[in-house]
Amino acid sequence: MRIGKETMKANSINAATRAFRVVGLPGDGIGPEVYAAARRVLGVLERRFDLEIRLDEQLIGGAAIDATGDPLPQETIDACNDADAALLGAVGGPKWDGNPAEQRPELGLLRIRAEFNLFCNLRPIVTHPALHSFSPIRPERLQNVDLMIVRELTGGSYFGKKWRNDDEAEDVCRYTRAEVQRVTRAAGRIAQQRDKCITLVDKANVLETSRLWRAVAHRVIEDEFPDVQIENLYVDAAAMHLLTRPADFDVILTENLFGDILSDEASMLCGSLGLLPSASLNDERFGLYEPVHGSAPDIAGQGKANPYAMLLSLAMMLRYSLDCADEAGALESCIHSCWADGILTTDLHPDGFTTSEVTDRVCERLAVTAEQ
Ligand code: IPM
Ligand code: MG
Repeated sequence: MRIGKETMKANSINAATRAFRVVGLPGDGIGPEVYAAARRVLGVLERRFDLEIRLDEQLIGGAAIDATGDPLPQETIDACNDADAALLGAVGGPKWDGNPAEQRPELGLLRIRAEFNLFCNLRPIVTHPALHSFSPIRPERLQNVDLMIVRELTGGSYFGKKWRNDDEAEDVCRYTRAEVQRVTRAAGRIAQQRDKCITLVDKANVLETSRLWRAVAHRVIEDEFPDVQIENLYVDAAAMHLLTRPADFDVILTENLFGDILSDEASMLCGSLGLLPSASLNDERFGLYEPVHGSAPDIAGQGKANPYAMLLSLAMMLRYSLDCADEAGALESCIHSCWADGILTTDLHPDGFTTSEVTDRVCERLAVTAEQ
Protein backbone atom coordinates (compact mmCIF):
# COMPACT_ATOMS: atom_id res chain seq x y z
CA MET A 1 0.00 0.00 0.00
CA ARG A 2 1.35 3.42 -0.90
CA ILE A 3 0.09 6.71 0.31
CA GLY A 4 2.45 9.11 -1.43
CA LYS A 5 1.42 11.19 -4.44
CA GLU A 6 4.19 9.54 -6.33
CA THR A 7 5.16 5.99 -5.55
CA MET A 8 7.25 5.84 -2.43
CA LYS A 9 10.18 4.17 -4.11
CA ALA A 10 12.78 3.72 -1.44
CA ASN A 11 15.98 5.60 -2.01
CA SER A 12 18.24 2.63 -1.57
CA ILE A 13 21.97 3.19 -1.46
CA ASN A 14 22.51 0.32 -3.84
CA ALA A 15 19.49 -1.19 -5.51
CA ALA A 16 21.24 -4.52 -6.29
CA THR A 17 21.94 -5.40 -2.65
CA ARG A 18 18.96 -3.46 -1.33
CA ALA A 19 20.85 -1.41 1.22
CA PHE A 20 19.04 1.19 3.29
CA ARG A 21 19.80 3.80 5.87
CA VAL A 22 17.67 3.82 8.99
CA VAL A 23 18.00 6.19 11.93
CA GLY A 24 17.51 4.41 15.25
CA LEU A 25 16.00 6.52 18.02
CA PRO A 26 15.84 4.41 21.21
CA GLY A 27 14.63 7.34 23.39
CA ASP A 28 13.50 6.88 27.00
CA GLY A 29 11.90 4.42 29.43
CA ILE A 30 11.16 1.12 27.71
CA GLY A 31 12.12 2.73 24.38
CA PRO A 32 15.69 1.36 24.40
CA GLU A 33 14.41 -2.12 25.37
CA VAL A 34 11.93 -2.43 22.51
CA TYR A 35 14.40 -0.76 20.17
CA ALA A 36 16.98 -3.43 21.06
CA ALA A 37 14.41 -6.08 20.09
CA ALA A 38 13.92 -4.41 16.71
CA ARG A 39 17.68 -4.22 16.14
CA ARG A 40 18.03 -7.95 16.74
CA VAL A 41 15.18 -8.73 14.36
CA LEU A 42 16.71 -6.44 11.75
CA GLY A 43 19.93 -8.44 12.08
CA VAL A 44 18.05 -11.65 11.27
CA LEU A 45 16.28 -10.01 8.33
CA GLU A 46 19.63 -8.85 6.96
CA ARG A 47 21.23 -12.25 7.25
CA ARG A 48 18.35 -14.20 5.80
CA PHE A 49 17.22 -11.82 3.08
CA ASP A 50 19.28 -9.91 0.60
CA LEU A 51 19.19 -6.76 2.69
CA GLU A 52 21.60 -4.35 4.29
CA ILE A 53 20.29 -1.92 6.85
CA ARG A 54 22.73 0.74 8.02
CA LEU A 55 21.54 1.77 11.47
CA ASP A 56 22.57 5.22 12.61
CA GLU A 57 21.64 5.62 16.28
CA GLN A 58 20.74 9.12 17.40
CA LEU A 59 19.32 10.93 20.41
CA ILE A 60 15.76 12.13 20.97
CA GLY A 61 13.57 13.03 23.95
CA GLY A 62 14.80 12.94 27.54
CA ALA A 63 18.00 11.10 26.59
CA ALA A 64 18.78 13.95 24.18
CA ILE A 65 17.97 16.61 26.80
CA ASP A 66 20.34 14.95 29.27
CA ALA A 67 23.15 14.70 26.70
CA THR A 68 22.73 17.96 24.79
CA GLY A 69 20.04 20.11 26.43
CA ASP A 70 17.85 19.78 23.33
CA PRO A 71 15.06 17.15 22.87
CA LEU A 72 15.75 17.03 19.10
CA PRO A 73 19.42 17.83 18.41
CA GLN A 74 20.40 19.07 14.94
CA GLU A 75 22.54 15.96 14.49
CA THR A 76 19.41 13.80 14.74
CA ILE A 77 17.63 15.95 12.13
CA ASP A 78 20.65 15.75 9.81
CA ALA A 79 20.81 11.97 10.16
CA CYS A 80 17.10 11.66 9.30
CA ASN A 81 17.62 13.86 6.25
CA ASP A 82 20.09 11.27 4.97
CA ALA A 83 17.92 8.26 5.80
CA ASP A 84 15.12 6.22 4.28
CA ALA A 85 13.28 5.90 7.58
CA ALA A 86 13.57 6.31 11.35
CA LEU A 87 12.61 3.79 14.01
CA LEU A 88 11.70 5.28 17.39
CA GLY A 89 11.26 3.57 20.77
CA ALA A 90 9.47 6.08 23.02
CA VAL A 91 10.05 9.45 24.68
CA GLY A 92 9.24 10.91 28.10
CA GLY A 93 9.39 10.08 31.78
CA PRO A 94 8.88 11.53 35.25
CA LYS A 95 12.47 12.75 35.38
CA TRP A 96 11.63 15.54 32.92
CA ASP A 97 8.01 16.21 34.00
CA GLY A 98 8.89 19.45 35.75
CA ASN A 99 10.88 20.80 32.79
CA PRO A 100 9.74 23.97 31.00
CA ALA A 101 7.76 23.37 27.77
CA GLU A 102 10.75 23.68 25.43
CA GLN A 103 12.74 21.19 27.50
CA ARG A 104 10.18 18.41 27.53
CA PRO A 105 10.99 15.07 25.84
CA GLU A 106 7.63 15.02 24.00
CA LEU A 107 8.70 18.17 22.18
CA GLY A 108 11.40 16.14 20.42
CA LEU A 109 8.70 13.91 18.98
CA LEU A 110 6.42 16.80 18.00
CA ARG A 111 9.32 18.62 16.37
CA ILE A 112 10.46 15.62 14.31
CA ARG A 113 6.86 15.18 13.09
CA ALA A 114 6.73 18.85 12.07
CA GLU A 115 10.27 18.99 10.67
CA PHE A 116 9.60 16.12 8.24
CA ASN A 117 5.99 17.07 7.54
CA LEU A 118 4.77 13.69 8.81
CA PHE A 119 1.12 14.63 8.53
CA CYS A 120 -0.29 11.17 7.98
CA ASN A 121 -0.21 8.84 10.97
CA LEU A 122 -1.37 5.29 10.32
CA ARG A 123 -2.46 3.17 13.27
CA PRO A 124 -3.78 -0.23 12.16
CA ILE A 125 -6.05 -2.04 14.61
CA VAL A 126 -6.33 -5.72 13.76
CA THR A 127 -7.58 -8.24 16.28
CA HIS A 128 -6.13 -11.75 16.33
CA PRO A 129 -8.20 -14.76 17.48
CA ALA A 130 -5.42 -15.93 19.80
CA LEU A 131 -5.68 -12.65 21.70
CA HIS A 132 -9.46 -12.22 21.88
CA SER A 133 -9.60 -13.50 25.45
CA PHE A 134 -7.17 -10.79 26.59
CA SER A 135 -9.40 -7.95 25.46
CA PRO A 136 -11.94 -6.50 27.91
CA ILE A 137 -14.41 -6.48 24.98
CA ARG A 138 -16.67 -9.49 24.37
CA PRO A 139 -15.02 -11.93 21.92
CA GLU A 140 -17.99 -12.00 19.51
CA ARG A 141 -17.49 -8.28 18.90
CA LEU A 142 -13.82 -8.80 18.06
CA GLN A 143 -14.36 -11.08 15.07
CA ASN A 144 -13.10 -9.52 11.81
CA VAL A 145 -11.91 -6.27 13.34
CA ASP A 146 -9.50 -4.73 10.84
CA LEU A 147 -9.53 -0.97 10.86
CA MET A 148 -7.02 1.75 10.06
CA ILE A 149 -6.95 4.97 12.02
CA VAL A 150 -5.60 7.78 9.84
CA ARG A 151 -4.68 10.48 12.33
CA GLU A 152 -3.69 13.94 11.11
CA LEU A 153 -0.38 14.50 12.88
CA THR A 154 1.01 17.98 12.27
CA GLY A 155 -1.91 20.32 12.93
CA GLY A 156 -4.70 21.07 15.38
CA SER A 157 -4.28 21.96 19.03
CA TYR A 158 -0.93 20.17 19.21
CA PHE A 159 0.66 22.79 16.99
CA GLY A 160 -1.59 25.87 17.39
CA LYS A 161 -0.66 28.98 19.35
CA LYS A 162 -0.30 28.24 23.05
CA TRP A 163 0.04 30.44 26.10
CA ARG A 164 -0.61 30.34 29.81
CA ASN A 165 -0.60 32.69 32.75
CA ASP A 166 -1.51 31.90 36.35
CA ASP A 167 -5.24 32.12 35.66
CA GLU A 168 -5.78 31.25 32.01
CA ALA A 169 -4.36 29.12 29.25
CA GLU A 170 -5.08 28.57 25.59
CA ASP A 171 -4.22 25.92 22.96
CA VAL A 172 -5.55 27.07 19.62
CA CYS A 173 -6.95 24.36 17.33
CA ARG A 174 -6.39 25.54 13.77
CA TYR A 175 -6.64 23.68 10.47
CA THR A 176 -6.24 24.87 6.90
CA ARG A 177 -8.00 23.56 3.82
CA ALA A 178 -4.67 22.29 2.45
CA GLU A 179 -3.92 20.33 5.63
CA VAL A 180 -7.30 18.61 5.52
CA GLN A 181 -7.00 17.93 1.78
CA ARG A 182 -3.65 16.19 1.92
CA VAL A 183 -4.53 13.84 4.79
CA THR A 184 -7.93 13.11 3.22
CA ARG A 185 -6.16 12.16 -0.03
CA ALA A 186 -3.91 9.82 1.92
CA ALA A 187 -6.97 8.28 3.59
CA GLY A 188 -8.69 7.99 0.19
CA ARG A 189 -5.72 6.09 -1.29
CA ILE A 190 -5.64 3.78 1.73
CA ALA A 191 -9.40 3.20 1.57
CA GLN A 192 -9.12 2.26 -2.12
CA GLN A 193 -6.86 -0.62 -1.11
CA ARG A 194 -9.21 -1.73 1.66
CA ASP A 195 -13.02 -1.81 1.91
CA LYS A 196 -13.43 1.71 0.46
CA CYS A 197 -15.23 3.23 3.43
CA ILE A 198 -14.01 6.23 5.40
CA THR A 199 -15.58 7.32 8.68
CA LEU A 200 -14.74 10.95 9.32
CA VAL A 201 -14.67 11.45 13.09
CA ASP A 202 -15.20 15.00 14.33
CA LYS A 203 -17.23 17.26 16.60
CA ALA A 204 -18.98 19.23 13.87
CA ASN A 205 -21.94 19.99 16.12
CA VAL A 206 -19.65 22.23 18.18
CA LEU A 207 -16.31 22.97 16.50
CA GLU A 208 -15.66 25.21 13.48
CA THR A 209 -12.52 23.22 12.64
CA SER A 210 -14.70 20.11 12.38
CA ARG A 211 -17.11 21.89 10.04
CA LEU A 212 -14.17 22.83 7.80
CA TRP A 213 -12.97 19.21 7.90
CA ARG A 214 -16.40 17.95 6.83
CA ALA A 215 -16.71 20.34 3.91
CA VAL A 216 -13.17 19.77 2.64
CA ALA A 217 -12.95 16.02 3.20
CA HIS A 218 -16.29 15.33 1.51
CA ARG A 219 -15.29 17.44 -1.49
CA VAL A 220 -11.95 15.59 -1.88
CA ILE A 221 -13.54 12.15 -1.65
CA GLU A 222 -16.46 12.99 -3.97
CA ASP A 223 -14.23 14.62 -6.60
CA GLU A 224 -11.16 12.39 -6.49
CA PHE A 225 -12.25 9.05 -5.01
CA PRO A 226 -15.69 8.32 -6.44
CA ASP A 227 -15.36 4.65 -5.50
CA VAL A 228 -14.87 5.50 -1.80
CA GLN A 229 -17.73 6.16 0.63
CA ILE A 230 -17.41 8.73 3.38
CA GLU A 231 -19.65 8.89 6.44
CA ASN A 232 -19.58 11.14 9.50
CA LEU A 233 -19.48 10.25 13.18
CA TYR A 234 -19.16 12.56 16.18
CA VAL A 235 -16.14 11.72 18.27
CA ASP A 236 -18.14 11.01 21.43
CA ALA A 237 -20.28 8.49 19.57
CA ALA A 238 -17.20 7.08 17.84
CA ALA A 239 -15.63 6.38 21.24
CA MET A 240 -18.65 4.25 22.06
CA HIS A 241 -19.11 2.59 18.67
CA LEU A 242 -15.45 1.55 18.60
CA LEU A 243 -16.23 -0.75 21.50
CA THR A 244 -19.74 -1.86 20.54
CA ARG A 245 -19.34 -2.43 16.78
CA PRO A 246 -15.60 -2.27 15.96
CA ALA A 247 -15.87 -4.64 12.99
CA ASP A 248 -18.03 -2.10 11.13
CA PHE A 249 -15.14 0.34 10.64
CA ASP A 250 -12.71 0.36 7.73
CA VAL A 251 -10.76 3.65 7.69
CA ILE A 252 -11.24 6.20 10.47
CA LEU A 253 -10.04 9.65 9.43
CA THR A 254 -9.66 12.22 12.18
CA GLU A 255 -7.77 15.21 13.51
CA ASN A 256 -4.71 15.07 15.71
CA LEU A 257 -6.11 15.05 19.26
CA PHE A 258 -9.12 12.85 18.53
CA GLY A 259 -6.82 10.37 16.80
CA ASP A 260 -4.49 10.28 19.79
CA ILE A 261 -7.35 9.45 22.15
CA LEU A 262 -9.21 6.99 19.93
CA SER A 263 -6.09 5.00 19.09
CA ASP A 264 -5.34 4.27 22.75
CA GLU A 265 -8.96 3.27 23.21
CA ALA A 266 -8.89 1.04 20.13
CA SER A 267 -5.76 -0.74 21.38
CA MET A 268 -7.96 -2.45 23.95
CA LEU A 269 -9.66 -4.31 21.12
CA CYS A 270 -6.33 -6.00 20.41
CA GLY A 271 -5.69 -6.77 24.08
CA SER A 272 -2.86 -4.40 24.96
CA LEU A 273 -1.42 -1.04 23.98
CA GLY A 274 1.83 -2.97 23.72
CA LEU A 275 0.66 -4.46 20.41
CA LEU A 276 -0.06 -1.33 18.38
CA PRO A 277 2.37 -0.09 15.71
CA SER A 278 2.31 3.19 13.83
CA ALA A 279 3.75 4.85 10.76
CA SER A 280 4.04 8.60 10.35
CA LEU A 281 4.36 9.52 6.70
CA ASN A 282 4.70 12.50 4.40
CA ASP A 283 4.24 12.59 0.64
CA GLU A 284 7.76 11.31 0.05
CA ARG A 285 9.60 8.19 1.06
CA PHE A 286 10.81 9.09 4.57
CA GLY A 287 8.72 7.77 7.43
CA LEU A 288 8.96 7.61 11.21
CA TYR A 289 7.91 4.30 12.70
CA GLU A 290 7.10 3.90 16.37
CA PRO A 291 4.97 1.85 18.74
CA VAL A 292 1.84 3.68 19.90
CA HIS A 293 2.65 2.95 23.56
CA GLY A 294 4.73 5.46 25.47
CA SER A 295 7.89 5.12 27.53
CA ALA A 296 6.13 3.23 30.40
CA PRO A 297 8.66 4.36 33.06
CA ASP A 298 6.95 2.17 35.68
CA ILE A 299 8.18 -1.02 33.98
CA ALA A 300 11.37 0.31 32.36
CA GLY A 301 14.51 -1.75 32.89
CA GLN A 302 12.65 -4.85 34.13
CA GLY A 303 12.51 -6.87 30.91
CA LYS A 304 8.72 -6.62 30.90
CA ALA A 305 8.19 -4.39 27.87
CA ASN A 306 6.06 -5.86 25.10
CA PRO A 307 8.22 -5.73 21.95
CA TYR A 308 5.43 -6.62 19.49
CA ALA A 309 4.27 -3.04 18.84
CA MET A 310 7.84 -2.12 17.95
CA LEU A 311 8.33 -5.21 15.76
CA LEU A 312 5.07 -4.51 13.93
CA SER A 313 6.26 -0.91 13.45
CA LEU A 314 9.43 -2.36 11.93
CA ALA A 315 7.24 -4.37 9.55
CA MET A 316 5.42 -1.18 8.58
CA MET A 317 8.78 0.46 7.91
CA LEU A 318 9.82 -2.41 5.64
CA ARG A 319 6.58 -2.10 3.73
CA TYR A 320 6.08 1.66 3.43
CA SER A 321 9.58 3.18 3.32
CA LEU A 322 11.88 0.36 2.19
CA ASP A 323 9.66 -1.33 -0.39
CA CYS A 324 10.26 -4.72 1.26
CA ALA A 325 6.69 -6.03 1.39
CA ASP A 326 7.70 -9.71 1.39
CA GLU A 327 10.01 -9.26 4.34
CA ALA A 328 7.31 -7.27 6.15
CA GLY A 329 4.84 -10.09 5.53
CA ALA A 330 7.32 -12.71 6.77
CA LEU A 331 7.89 -10.79 9.98
CA GLU A 332 4.16 -10.31 10.56
CA SER A 333 3.51 -14.02 10.02
CA CYS A 334 6.17 -14.92 12.58
CA ILE A 335 4.61 -12.55 15.08
CA HIS A 336 1.15 -14.01 14.52
CA SER A 337 2.46 -17.55 14.90
CA CYS A 338 4.09 -16.53 18.20
CA TRP A 339 0.74 -15.14 19.39
CA ALA A 340 -1.00 -18.35 18.41
CA ASP A 341 1.53 -20.25 20.55
CA GLY A 342 1.02 -18.00 23.58
CA ILE A 343 4.42 -16.29 23.39
CA LEU A 344 3.30 -13.14 25.19
CA THR A 345 4.68 -10.66 27.69
CA THR A 346 3.25 -10.01 31.17
CA ASP A 347 0.94 -7.18 30.06
CA LEU A 348 -1.14 -9.99 28.53
CA HIS A 349 -0.29 -13.04 30.59
CA PRO A 350 0.73 -13.28 34.27
CA ASP A 351 3.30 -15.99 33.47
CA GLY A 352 4.42 -14.15 30.39
CA PHE A 353 7.81 -14.16 28.71
CA THR A 354 10.41 -11.40 29.05
CA THR A 355 11.10 -8.91 26.27
CA SER A 356 14.21 -10.75 25.18
CA GLU A 357 12.58 -14.20 25.36
CA VAL A 358 9.82 -13.02 23.03
CA THR A 359 12.45 -11.52 20.74
CA ASP A 360 14.39 -14.81 20.74
CA ARG A 361 11.30 -16.69 19.58
CA VAL A 362 10.51 -14.19 16.82
CA CYS A 363 14.13 -14.30 15.61
CA GLU A 364 14.19 -18.13 15.60
CA ARG A 365 10.99 -18.34 13.57
CA LEU A 366 12.00 -15.59 11.20
CA ALA A 367 15.28 -17.31 10.43
CA VAL A 368 13.42 -20.51 9.52
CA THR A 369 10.69 -18.76 7.54
CA ALA A 370 13.22 -16.88 5.51
CA GLU A 371 15.03 -20.04 4.53
CA GLN A 372 11.94 -21.58 2.93
C1 IPM B 1 1.22 9.32 20.63
C2 IPM B 1 1.69 9.94 21.92
C3 IPM B 1 2.20 11.34 21.64
C4 IPM B 1 1.05 12.15 21.08
C5 IPM B 1 2.84 12.05 22.85
C6 IPM B 1 3.96 11.24 23.46
C7 IPM B 1 3.30 13.44 22.51
O1 IPM B 1 0.68 9.92 22.87
O2 IPM B 1 2.02 9.24 19.69
O3 IPM B 1 0.07 8.87 20.59
O4 IPM B 1 0.23 12.67 21.84
O5 IPM B 1 0.97 12.28 19.86
MG1 MG C 1 -1.02 8.83 22.29
